[in-house]
Amino acid sequence: MHALKYLRFYEARGLTMERARGQYVWGADGRKYLDMHTCHGVAFLGHAHPHVIEVLKEQLETVSVLSTSFHTRVMDDMLDALSRVAGNGFEWVTLLNSGSEAVELAIKLARRATGRKVLVAFTGSFHGRTLGALSLTHNPRYRRAFEPLLPEVRFGRFNDVEGVEDVIKEDVAAVVLEVIQGEGGINVADEAFVRAVAERAREVGALLVVDEVQTGFGRTGRVWAHTRYGIKPDIITAGKALGGGFPVSAVLTTDYVASRVKPGDHGTTYGGNPLACAAVKAASEVLLTESVPEQARVKGEALMRALRSRLAGNPLVRDVRGAGLMIGVNLRKLPGPVLRCAQGKGVLLLKAGATVVRALPPYLISEDDEVWFVDTLTECLEGLAEGVADGVA
Ligand SMILES: Cc1ncc(COP(=O)(O)O)c(C=O)c1O
Repeated sequence: MHALKYLRFYEARGLTMERARGQYVWGADGRKYLDMHTCHGVAFLGHAHPHVIEVLKEQLETVSVLSTSFHTRVMDDMLDALSRVAGNGFEWVTLLNSGSEAVELAIKLARRATGRKVLVAFTGSFHGRTLGALSLTHNPRYRRAFEPLLPEVRFGRFNDVEGVEDVIKEDVAAVVLEVIQGEGGINVADEAFVRAVAERAREVGALLVVDEVQTGFGRTGRVWAHTRYGIKPDIITAGKALGGGFPVSAVLTTDYVASRVKPGDHGTTYGGNPLACAAVKAASEVLLTESVPEQARVKGEALMRALRSRLAGNPLVRDVRGAGLMIGVNLRKLPGPVLRCAQGKGVLLLKAGATVVRALPPYLISEDDEVWFVDTLTECLEGLAEGVADGVA
């Protein structure tokens, strides 16, 4: 026994894991699991990608900690690689350590750039657990115990085009949007809604912040999910997949926004450290050389097609939705029993919203993995549907 116990904020899954490679994780008992959980989407490039390991090892032996007050070659290399992947209209990037922190900085940048205070977010949103990011997170289950949060936040209804004008007014500093809500239930934004939000933000002089922490870096079949909508955000936040498994996040922005902040407006001890730069550089190189977004698109389409066809007619299933390898199966019941059943068959999944089984697989899943996943989900849902019919589930 230890003197200290680990203070967990997630429910324990009852498994001890020992090692991970690619799309698999092995338990201490030697059992192999298919990882469609990927640590909330982080291991999108697979566990222990050889290129990421090689670059990180080399960096560890060269220089691993240094303030961004000092220039390093690895930062240049990171900027080079990331520009090739993610240049799309942004002139500036800064690295932080978590998605929440990236959202915090986006809030500060928006307030600085506009001189306004009000922030707009949407029902179903999830932007993180720190107090600023939590203020933009809609779910009362996450917020209630910690109120009062930032008072100047207005929530619009997700996908409600008519409501856009009422919430986005001249006092708004930033509108913060996930174009596919992850934690909220794999809710895909309609094109008309996203365009209305972007146009209205522009009209009233509010910044448009797209939170790509979960959708970004190839997961939805594009480097950034917002590009599907033809909009041009002022700021995007990224995290999770960005470091190929290394904890790092980013804020990307424009000349206009960057020119309105000055040294001292923000700071972070670890942000932009050489190891993080090396991780982003390596992950960007993998994204390019292995055409990761394209693979995610093709594999995601195949997976969703297979799920729709195999689950058609199951009375527990409302719909299958998502984009690329960000997939949700929306149920007529709570997803807990399905997650437990799938884990029993060796497939690790997670939930989203109240009723959605969420799969965030790595881009390198094989056809055999797809069969394993689709068979598992079909069997679990058929078993539960029979249970419901028998009155036992
Ligand atoms: C869209 C979105 N924004 C922000 C966050 C917060 O990221 P982190 O948990 O790294 O702070 C998450 C995490 O799930 C997320 O999905």
